[in-house]
Amino acid sequence: MSRSASSKVTPVDLNVPSYVKHQRLIDWVASVAALTRPERVVWCDGSQEEYDRLCEMMVQAGTMRRLDPAKRPNSYLAWSDPSDVARVEDRTFICSEREEDAGPTNNWAAPDEMRDTLGQLFDGSMEGRTMYVVPFSMGPLGSPIAHIGVEVSDSPYVAVNMRIMTRMGRAVFDVLGADGEFVPCVHSVGAPLREGKADVPWPCNDLKYIVHFPETREIWSFGSGYGGNALLGKKCFALRIASTMGRDQGWLAEHMLILGVTSPQGQKYHVAAAFPSACGKTNFAMLIPPQGMNGWKVSTIGDDIAWIKPAADGRLYAINPEAGYFGVAPGTGEKTNPNAMATLKENVIFTNVALTDDGDVWWEGMTDEPPAHLIDWQGQDWTPQIAKETGRKAAHPNARFTVPAQQCPSIDPDWENPRGVAIDAFIFGGRRSTTVPLVTEARNWREGVYMAATMGSETTAAAAGQQGVVRRDPFAMLPFCGYNMSDYFNHWLKLGERLEADGATLPRIYCVNWFRKGPDGKFVWPGYGENMRVLRWILGRLQGEAQGVEQVFGISPSYEDIDWTGLDFSREQFRQVISVDLPAWRDELALHDELFAQLAQRLPADLPRTKTEIEKRLAA
Ligand code: GTP
Ligand code: SPV
Ligand code: MN
Repeated sequence: MSRSASSKVTPVDLNVPSYVKHQRLIDWVASVAALTRPERVVWCDGSQEEYDRLCEMMVQAGTMRRLDPAKRPNSYLAWSDPSDVARVEDRTFICSEREEDAGPTNNWAAPDEMRDTLGQLFDGSMEGRTMYVVPFSMGPLGSPIAHIGVEVSDSPYVAVNMRIMTRMGRAVFDVLGADGEFVPCVHSVGAPLREGKADVPWPCNDLKYIVHFPETREIWSFGSGYGGNALLGKKCFALRIASTMGRDQGWLAEHMLILGVTSPQGQKYHVAAAFPSACGKTNFAMLIPPQGMNGWKVSTIGDDIAWIKPAADGRLYAINPEAGYFGVAPGTGEKTNPNAMATLKENVIFTNVALTDDGDVWWEGMTDEPPAHLIDWQGQDWTPQIAKETGRKAAHPNARFTVPAQQCPSIDPDWENPRGVAIDAFIFGGRRSTTVPLVTEARNWREGVYMAATMGSETTAAAAGQQGVVRRDPFAMLPFCGYNMSDYFNHWLKLGERLEADGATLPRIYCVNWFRKGPDGKFVWPGYGENMRVLRWILGRLQGEAQGVEQVFGISPSYEDIDWTGLDFSREQFRQVISVDLPAWRDELALHDELFAQLAQRLPADLPRTKTEIEKRLAA
């Protein structure tokens, strides 16, 4: 970005450490500093000392609060501005040269116009603040599958969260050397100074822009300090930019957890599963098999993002590019996710959960009994009585924890293996209170791609906007695909065709739904650890042992095909979660039509063809 207007201002001392040898990177940092005019520049080295120092500074500034060191060692609580609590999809832009390359599901803006807009927004946007230069690696440092980014940000909250979520710090510069490739990421909370001071606890701006330039692989984010908008290695880089890299280079960047599952006989499988935001990835990745399924073991490789590449043996190998979990707090408790609770014992940054009177944290679903008194995420007194009268939640529904992945008791020994793990099955799942059965196996790759492409899900608090409305969320990637969704479908179809032509056995594809509700409005399926029963059926199918029944769009288990040992779940309850209601499916297919009409321009013919086959079966 060229700016001459600000050239009169004395340039800030860049403070480049002697170990940074990358002139192009230094020039870029200089250009961002000249534009944003921070008071000082700090290059993050990723050390514990630096982390502690930044956290202490934020405690002093009122951004974070130190939790009781005995109850929650080395942990902090941040409360955001109430307007800055989730991703902002309508403020997220894909600025490809051609509008068709962003496609109808993305907000597009012409790159030149957007660069002008950004030039104005970022002009002096860091005045009075420190600019942090945050070097990070997505994937293990120096591994051939990793990609490097550098985020400059005026948010110390971003710097410390990036240290947990990525491999962040000085060692990244050793890998980059003098001319290594990196994705430049510019982030500013964009908060105006108040009376010349920058001392609000959670600076942000009402105006937000989360911008991606896929061709030049750049990210610019303005106005928000919240996770997915501000931790640019995560959704912006590892999904939106990486998905376009994958399109060009023959691999996949997906909104998927990765887990290992070992049978009592010691046979190990790997599964990658895509559920939309706040629809159960973290929970499924950390699943503990229920009573009655002793001997099965699930291990965690990743909980949100998978990079998947075909290897020479014709199989698809997946890695987790992240180093931490940025997980949903509400609903996480000893009963639902004991592995997460154990992970959260120390070294955590909590955002927008409630504070207990003894200096610890609480959120809805953490315990059955709420504490008698709390300070809620907006700093107000909260009691169970107040909650009853006003409906006010103690924690924001999208309250989050940031925590190092290696603290998870179920972490898989291969979680940092640069080769990744070979995927045996893909699972796609939405949040649907009606219509979609507990589990369905696609008969082939094409049918699986169809199921994933047409998946619907009820919106959640992870994104700003209306909640609980069903929308199509293809592959759980609607907010994260950095290019034309039709091209993305085609990429999946072609990848499968290519591998199959080479004689590879493709992963099988499954569709699940943990969220069907009964007439009483409650979830019928117990979920969480009990999802192991569905996983076990899936593995049985892979082994050629488990039976199923053909229905209109795939194969589902009958009651007898599921292992119910240790669970009281009646035939009638099972019917409620597995049934396929034909009129409801006619309506559902009409929604597929709407999606296909929206995506008509480049839609692969395989998808409408698959739909016609399903409709024939539905009519029969
Ligand atoms: P992101 O981090 O936003 O991508 O979300 P995620 O897909 O990792 O979702 P997560 O596992 O954090 O779950 C989100 C919410 O769904 C939490 O409140 C969970 O308690 C709830 N949840 C997860 N699994 C289940 C399940 O099997 N059944 C039910 N009823 N709720 C679940
Ligand atoms: C999601 O919304 O899918 C998340 C949280 O995983 S965020 O990092 O905000 O995208
Ligand atoms: Mn996510």
